[in-house]
Amino acid sequence: MRSLSLLLLTASLSEYASAFTGGHPDVYHDSYGQDLHRRNIVYNGQVSDTYDFVIVGGGTAGLAIASRLSEDSNTTVLVLEAGDTGDGAADTVNTPVNAYYHGLPGSQYDWAYATVNQPNAGNRSVSWPCGKLLGGSSAMNGMYHVRPSKLEIDAWSSLVNGTSKWNWDALFAGMQDSETFTPPTSDVQAIVGMVYTASSRGTDGPIHVSYPGFEFATVGNWTGTLANAGVEVTPDAYGGENYGAYIATNSINPANWTRSYARSGYIDPLPPRDNLAVLPNATVTRIIFDSSNKDNLTATAVEWASSADAARETIKVRKEVIISSGAMGSPRVLMHSGVGPSDVLQAAGVDVQVNLPGVGQHLQDHLSSGLLFQTNTDTAASLYASNATGNTPIFLSYVNSAVAYVNSTVVLGADGEATLKQQIADALSSSVSTLVPSSDDTVKAGYQAIYNATLNTIFSSGVAQIEILYQLTDSGSNGTNVVAIQAGLQHPFSHGRIYITSSDPFVAPLIDPQYLAHAADIAILREGLKLARRIGGTAPLSAAIVTEVQPGAGVQSDDDWDAWIQQHASTEFHPSSSCAMLPRELGGVVDEDLKVYGIGNVRVADASVFPISVSAHLQAPTYGLAEQAAKIIRATYNGVGLPSSSSGNSSSGSNSGSGSGSNNGSNDNNNSASHLAWSGSLALAAGGLLAALLL
Ligand SMILES: Cc1cc2nc3c(=O)[nH]c(=O)nc-3n(C[C@H](O)[C@H](O)[C@H](O)COP(=O)(O)OP(=O)(O)OC[C@H]3O[C@@H](n4cnc5c(N)ncnc54)[C@H](O)[C@@H]3O)c2cc1C
Ligand SMILES: *[C@@H]1O[C@H](CO)[C@@H](O)[C@H](O)[C@H]1NC(C)=O
Ligand SMILES: *[C@@H]1O[C@H](CO)[C@@H](O)[C@H](O)[C@H]1NC(C)=O
Ligand SMILES: *[C@@H]1O[C@H](CO)[C@@H](O)[C@H](O)[C@H]1NC(C)=O
Ligand SMILES: *[C@@H]1O[C@H](CO)[C@@H](O)[C@H](O)[C@H]1NC(C)=O
Ligand SMILES: *[C@@H]1O[C@H](CO)[C@@H](O)[C@H](O)[C@H]1NC(C)=O
Ligand SMILES: *[C@@H]1O[C@H](CO)[C@@H](O)[C@H](O)[C@H]1NC(C)=O
Ligand SMILES: *[C@@H]1O[C@H](CO)[C@@H](O)[C@H](O)[C@H]1NC(C)=O
Ligand SMILES: *[C@@H]1O[C@H](CO)[C@@H](O)[C@H](O)[C@H]1NC(C)=O
Ligand SMILES: *[C@@H]1O[C@H](CO)[C@@H](O)[C@H](O)[C@H]1NC(C)=O
Ligand SMILES: *[C@@H]1O[C@H](CO)[C@@H](O)[C@H](O)[C@H]1NC(C)=O
Ligand SMILES: *[C@@H]1O[C@H](CO)[C@@H](O)[C@H](O)[C@H]1NC(C)=O
Ligand SMILES: *[C@@H]1O[C@H](CO)[C@@H](O)[C@H](O)[C@H]1NC(C)=O
Repeated sequence: MRSLSLLLLTASLSEYASAFTGGHPDVYHDSYGQDLHRRNIVYNGQVSDTYDFVIVGGGTAGLAIASRLSEDSNTTVLVLEAGDTGDGAADTVNTPVNAYYHGLPGSQYDWAYATVNQPNAGNRSVSWPCGKLLGGSSAMNGMYHVRPSKLEIDAWSSLVNGTSKWNWDALFAGMQDSETFTPPTSDVQAIVGMVYTASSRGTDGPIHVSYPGFEFATVGNWTGTLANAGVEVTPDAYGGENYGAYIATNSINPANWTRSYARSGYIDPLPPRDNLAVLPNATVTRIIFDSSNKDNLTATAVEWASSADAARETIKVRKEVIISSGAMGSPRVLMHSGVGPSDVLQAAGVDVQVNLPGVGQHLQDHLSSGLLFQTNTDTAASLYASNATGNTPIFLSYVNSAVAYVNSTVVLGADGEATLKQQIADALSSSVSTLVPSSDDTVKAGYQAIYNATLNTIFSSGVAQIEILYQLTDSGSNGTNVVAIQAGLQHPFSHGRIYITSSDPFVAPLIDPQYLAHAADIAILREGLKLARRIGGTAPLSAAIVTEVQPGAGVQSDDDWDAWIQQHASTEFHPSSSCAMLPRELGGVVDEDLKVYGIGNVRVADASVFPISVSAHLQAPTYGLAEQAAKIIRATYNGVGLPSSSSGNSSSGSNSGSGSGSNNGSNDNNNSASHLAWSGSLALAAGGLLAALLL
C-alpha cells in the first residue's frame, strides 16, 4: 500500500507542484490594459448604492445564488459578507487535510459560536464553529460530500403542501446542477475498490466532487467489514437511497487536489461581471422596511457595518433581499431586523416589524461521538507526522470518506426498534408540552408535525438514524497510531432554538440545541456507538485493530454509555432548520418560494430552511437548495422556467439519468447531477486547535 502510494506521489509531483503557490491575484488586466477586479470580489470597498438583489452572506448558499442570479446580465447582484476574503488563509482552505489538522476553527475566520450549557449533556457548552469568510462553512468543513435520501426530502415536501419545488426530484436536479463528478484515479481505485454510479452525479456543475489522490488499504476493508456487521453495501448512495456502507466522494478538485468550495467553484472561475459585486468585511446589521402595508412589508435597503464601532452604511434594494447567513446567522439577521417572536424581540429591545414566532425555532443538529482504537497500520495522521510521504499535495489530499448510513432496524434490532417506536409515539404529547422551547402554539404544532414525519415516515424505513464514519486523521494522546469510528444521530427528537438577547447585532445570539432532551435520542446514539464498537471487532477491519482506547473497556452497561455520551458527545457541525420552510400555522418562517411570511420581497435560502434534519452532511443539500432557489427567483423575474416535473427523475436505480448541469446561465432547465456530502469529525480543543477527532 505504501509503495503504491509513493509511486503515485512521484508521478504527480511535477504535475501538481504549482498547485500550492498560494495567493489569489486580486486584479488582472483586460485587453485594453485596464485593471479588472478578479472574481468580482471588491477589494477597494467601492460598490454602487442600489442593486436589484442584495444577498446577505457570501457563504455556501449565498455565493451559489449570487453566481446564478448574475448570469442574467440585466440583473445586478451584491453580496455582503461579514468575514474577510480568506486570501490570507488560502493554503489552509485549499489543502484538503488541513481541515483535520489545523483548519479554520478558532481562527479569525470562525464565528466561534458556543451553545449554552446543555443540562442533558453534562451541563457542557458545545463549540459550534461556522465559517466567517467568502465561502462560509464550505471553506472550513470536513469535505464529506453526500446526499440525503428521497424519502426524507419527500417528507419535507409533504410538510409544505406537497410542493414539487422541494421534493426529491427538485433537490436532486439542484444537487446535480451544482457538481462535476470525477471518478477515482486508477491507483486509488486499486487500493480501495470503491463502487459508485456516475450516472447519478453531475457532469458540469461548479463544485468538483471526487476522491482523494492518496488512499489506505484499511479503507478498502470498510464496506466488506460493514457487510459482515449487517449493513449492506450500496452501489448508488447519490440517487435517492443514501442507505448502507460506501466510500463517499469529497468536495475536492482532482485537477490540483484542492478543496472545491463555494468561492472556488461559483465565483473564482467567473469572468468579471459588471452586474456582480462581492463585498467582504460587511456585516449586515438589519434590513430596512417600508412598513406602510403592515401585512406585507417591503424591504427597501440593507444596513451594514465593517465592525461594531464603524458607521452604518446602507445599500438600496430594487427587487429583493436574500438572506443566506446560515443556520445561526439567518435567524439572527431577521430578529435584528424586527422579524421574529415578539417576546424575544421586545426583551432584546428591538422594535417588532413582523411577529413571526418560528424564527430561530425548530433548530436541529446531528449529535455525535466516537471510539478510538489503537491500530497496527499507518494512518493519515501518522504518515503526516513522520513526513514519510514528503507531505506532498497528493498526500495532503487525503480526507476521510468511509461512511455508513444505518437504519433503525440494524441499529436497534427488530424488537428494539418496535419497542422504541412505540415509546416515541407515546411520548408525543408530553414532548410537545415539555420540550418545545416556545410557548407559541404554531411552533408547538410544527414540532409535532416534524416529530410525526420523523417517526411515521423515516423511523423504521431504510433511511438512517445513525451515521458511522471511519477516520484516519486522529492522533493518539501518547503517540499511538489510532483510527476513529464515530456515530452520529441523524434525526433528533430534541429540537432547540436560537435567539437574540441584545439589540446590538454584533452580540452573539443564544444557542440552545437542547441536546438529548428527548430520551429516544440518547438511546439511539448509544446503540449507534455500540454498533461502532462491533464494527471495530469485525473482520477484516479487526485485523488492523489492537485495542479500544476510547472509551475503553470500562464502558459496558447502558448507564456507562449514557454517562459517557453526556460527557463526550458533540456537534457534527450540521445545525439546520432555524428558519424552517413550513406553513405559518406550523411555526414556519418561509413558504415554498423561500419568502419570509409577512414580507413581500425577502427570502431565506441556506441550511436554515430545511424543515427536517436529513441523514447527510449538509453541504451537498445546501448547494442543491441554492440552485433550486436561483431557479425559483429567476423564474419570478425573467421568465426562465422551472425544470419540468419529469426532468428530475429520481429513480434511484443504477441507471438513473445523469443530467448536464448548466454552468453558463443561459439555460437552467437542464436536469443535472449533483451530490452532497460532508461530514464533521472535527472537534475543538480548548485552545481552539482542532483536536483529533471525534465529533
Ligand atoms: C467545522 C465544520 C465541518 C463541516 N463538515 C462538513 C462536511 O464534511 N461535509 C458537509 O457536507 N458539511 C459539513 N459541514 C456543514 C456544512 O459546511 C454547512 O452545513 C453548510 O456549509 C452551510 O451552508 P450555509 O450556506 O447555510 O451557511 P454558511 O456556509 O455558513 O454561510 C453563511 C455565511 O453568511 C455570513 N454571515 C452570517 N451573518 C452575516 C451577516 N450578518 N452579514 C453578512 N454576512 C453574514 C457568514 O460569515 C457566512 O459566510 C461542516 C461545517 C463545519 C462548521
Ligand atoms: C485548482 O485548479 C482550478 C482549475 O481546475 C483553479 O481554478 C484553481 O485556482 C486551482 N487552485 C489552486 C489553489 O491553485
Ligand atoms: C478586511 O478587514 C481586515 C481587518 O481590518 C483587513 O486586514 C482586510 O484587508 C480587509 N479585507 C478587505 C478585502 O478589505
Ligand atoms: C435586458 O433588458 C432590456 C431592457 O429591459 C431588454 O430589452 C433586454 O432584452 C434584456 N436582456 C436580457 C438578456 O434579458
Ligand atoms: C446541571 O446544572 C444544574 C443547574 O446548575 C444542576 O441542577 C444539575 O445537577 C446539573 N447536572 C449535571 C448532570 O451536572
Ligand atoms: C484489508 O485488511 C487486510 C488485513 O489487514 C490487509 O492485508 C488488506 O490489504 C486490507 N485491504 C484490502 C483492500 O483488503
Ligand atoms: C518532508 O519531506 C520532504 C521530502 O523528503 C522534504 O523536502 C521536507 O523538507 C520534509 N519536511 C519536513 C518538515 O521535514
Ligand atoms: C401527529 O400525530 C398525532 C398522532 O398520530 C396526531 O394526533 C397529531 O394530530 C399529529 N400532529 C400533526 C401536527 O401532524
Ligand atoms: C435496513 O438496513 C438493512 C441492512 O442494510 C437492510 O437489509 C434492510 O432492508 C433495511 N431496512 C429497510 C426497511 O429498508
Ligand atoms: C499508549 O496507549 C495505548 C492504549 O492505552 C497503550 O496500549 C500503549 O502502551 C501506550 N503507549 C505508550 C508508549 O505509552
Ligand atoms: C400552500 O399553498 C397555499 C395556497 O397556494 C399558499 O398560500 C401557502 O403559502 C402554501 N404554503 C407554503 C408553506 O408554501
Ligand atoms: C407584497 O409586496 C410585494 C412587494 O414587496 C408585492 O410584489 C406583492 O405583490 C405584495 N403582496 C401582496 C399580497 O400584496
Ligand atoms: C424515471 O425513471 C424510471 C426508471 O428509469 C422510470 O421507470 C420512470 O418512468 C421515470 N419517471 C419519469 C417521470 O420520467
